[in-house]
Amino acid sequence: MKFFIDTANLAQIKEAAALGILDGVTTNPSLMAKEGIKGEEAIHQHYRTICDLVDGDISAEVLSTDYEGIIEEGKALAAIHPNIVVKVPMIKDGIKAIKWFTDNGIKTNCTLIFSAGQAILAAKAGATYVSPFLGRIDDSGWNGVQLIEQIAQIFNVQGFKTQILAASIRNPNHIIDCAAAGADVCTCPLEPILGLLKHPLTDLGLAKFIEDAKKMQAEAAVA
Ligand code: E4P
Repeated sequence: MKFFIDTANLAQIKEAAALGILDGVTTNPSLMAKEGIKGEEAIHQHYRTICDLVDGDISAEVLSTDYEGIIEEGKALAAIHPNIVVKVPMIKDGIKAIKWFTDNGIKTNCTLIFSAGQAILAAKAGATYVSPFLGRIDDSGWNGVQLIEQIAQIFNVQGFKTQILAASIRNPNHIIDCAAAGADVCTCPLEPILGLLKHPLTDLGLAKFIEDAKKMQAEAAVA
């Protein structure tokens, strides 16, 4: 399973990249707004900077919701860097646009997926990725991991090449569950990724190893 970071924050992207396990980045208009990035030129420049930091797929979301607008915006985003993946919302014009991008060699990420039916449509249109929003589904009292499992089963049975990009991940267990459920990629903020590192027995074990090693060093120094 690939690891993407879901943020437009450059410090977090750098920290995740420094771990050496980062495969890509996803953003969305809310994440860009959180960093205060506004206006087309500034947004494009921010994507250029992210592409320079991470050698992997970088999802850049269109703001238009009509077919012509999505195509124009998507072409401009794709021209920024070969690693840009045009992120398109799961709407009727979005599906039409994904088909156009597929036919014209532009990678896409169909976002705001909340059902298996939506994932099938996006895959039929040739989307590179579908993004089921696991955390938001859980937040509404449904089961996000079950949706990932269902989509994985359907894509496997049908032979769809579209990759499942599990999004809206809230905690380390979500990442583990996504890996078990057959997600190709998970995208999340830095915190759940760093959460995977933690276990109290690791901390206790390491503290004991260091204590014993120091004791032996001290004994060797007096001998
Ligand atoms: C996916 O690409 C979205 O950017 C993201 O994962 C949404 O997550 P949220 O539900 O935490 O906003």
